[in-house]
Amino acid sequence: MLGRLLHGRPHAAAPGAIGHARAYEVFAAIALAGRRRRLYGRLVALSGARPGERVLDVGCGTGYLARMMARTVGPEGSVLGVDPSVPMIRYAREHTREAGCVFTEGFAEDLDAPESAFDVVVTSLAVHHFPEEKRGQAIKEMFRVLRPGGRVLIADFRPPVGGSAQRLVGALAGPVMRHNPVHLLEPFAREAGFRELDSGDLRPFLHYVRGVKPGGQAGRGCRGGVTG
Ligand SMILES: C[S@@+](CC[C@H](N)C(=O)[O-])C[C@H]1O[C@@H](n2cnc3c(N)ncnc32)[C@H](O)[C@@H]1O
Repeated sequence: MLGRLLHGRPHAAAPGAIGHARAYEVFAAIALAGRRRRLYGRLVALSGARPGERVLDVGCGTGYLARMMARTVGPEGSVLGVDPSVPMIRYAREHTREAGCVFTEGFAEDLDAPESAFDVVVTSLAVHHFPEEKRGQAIKEMFRVLRPGGRVLIADFRPPVGGSAQRLVGALAGPVMRHNPVHLLEPFAREAGFRELDSGDLRPFLHYVRGVKPGGQAGRGCRGGVTG
């Protein structure tokens, strides 16, 4: 049901791009019940982004997080949002006024960006949309495009543990979200080469992993911290 609304096809027995940007915005507002700004503010803080930095948002969707990141890095910084969905990118462009915040079509597993192009890479609620066999490759791409010393923040949907809540997620959103293997994010990040890894949960339903690309400056000591 949710899948048909968002994807324009029955849900996500398989992952994929989201086709209906406005429906996604309505769904996000309802699912987060007024807590979206606070939750995404925590993601911004966890990313450790600072004024003047270059940020990449992978699977940016409608650009909500990208815009918040842009306000944090300011006009001296820049934010690039990447998503394969044409409607999502169009919506993001139409709703963005922040300086230096731009959007382009593209795939996480094959980023069209040179090595070391960014100081910070973020991704929220997107990894479970990547094809399962390409998730490790996508995180390797995040590593490649970060400069040495650059930081990654990977946040994704954490399924509930209880039986009835899990069944509800399954009924509404399908098996991809119900069984989302967020415990694999940290091994993927380690395999990609990230170090100084840490992870945690944010209410109501996010799990995150942070890491640093070895070399260069600005390791963990420069990262922001919040509690869930
Ligand atoms: C649930 S939305 C999250 C959007 C946004 N990051 C947020 O937090 O609101 C997931 C997004 O991942 C995108 N996506 C799907 N497959 C992708 C891929 N292979 N590479 C990058 N993004 C992808 C979808 O099109 C969709 O916009």
